[in-house]
Amino acid sequence: MKKVTVKTFQKMKEEGNKITALTAYDCSTARYEDEAGIDFILVGDSLGMVILGYDSTCTVTIDDMKVFTGAVARGAKSAMVVADMPFMSYHCDLKEAVHNAGDLIRTGAGAVKLEGATDYIISVVKRCTESGIPVMGHLGFTPQFLNTLGGYKVQGKSSDDTLKILKQAKQLEEAGAFAVVLEMVPEECAKYITEHLNIPTIGIGAGRYCSGQILVSDDIFGKYGDFTPKFARKYANMSEVIKDSVSKYIDDVKTGSFPAETELFKLPEEELKQLNLLD
Ligand code: KIV
Repeated sequence: MKKVTVKTFQKMKEEGNKITALTAYDCSTARYEDEAGIDFILVGDSLGMVILGYDSTCTVTIDDMKVFTGAVARGAKSAMVVADMPFMSYHCDLKEAVHNAGDLIRTGAGAVKLEGATDYIISVVKRCTESGIPVMGHLGFTPQFLNTLGGYKVQGKSSDDTLKILKQAKQLEEAGAFAVVLEMVPEECAKYITEHLNIPTIGIGAGRYCSGQILVSDDIFGKYGDFTPKFARKYANMSEVIKDSVSKYIDDVKTGSFPAETELFKLPEEELKQLNLLD
């Protein structure tokens, strides 16, 4: 089984072979996604909302990311594992940023992802790639900027905004980023950026023309609450499957039909004799 690397990404873009990606936050989901043939698995800081029940991604810490990245990496044999650098783990100080990125690589990630493209972020990308840490960028709607963006809003809605995002994407590319996620932008904006960049773009709510697509796994499994974003496609109804299994289990325990003869252990006959338990 061949391991997906940053070189695979470039080759796939050049060949027009769409890159596929999903998030995962645990070992078994990562294993199933890997066995199904996904190209890369993102340990997204979306785990703050999906797994930990917070209102936004901004509460996730680098220690949280290390635990979940390790779990996913143990399940992914072929897919590349990309770990999100969480809020404030790379913003305060360049040295701390590289140190934290290095920790995620040590726990099993093949690359890290970070949001934005200010001059400072570009210097983080440069320093990481120079240190042997592959970096994926993230532009358009950037969830860690939720409070400054004023909510979940589509970005890049004008030609000026499209050119601004393209400029940021080019800066990321020049700094050494091997790919860039474009989140919640009009498809024409994503198409324009994809055509003017050498590195691949990975779209989420960015239309059909990106080099690849990523979705939050719990959205496609139908497992995250009742809300599915406009850009996500639901392939299963896991929340119903889970609720149905739990209700059946409750009924079976209450009625005594669980556990059955085949689901328990028995003492040998001699031991039963000793305990006067033979009928
Ligand atoms: O955290 C995440 O799941 C992400 C995706 C939305 C790309 O960054």
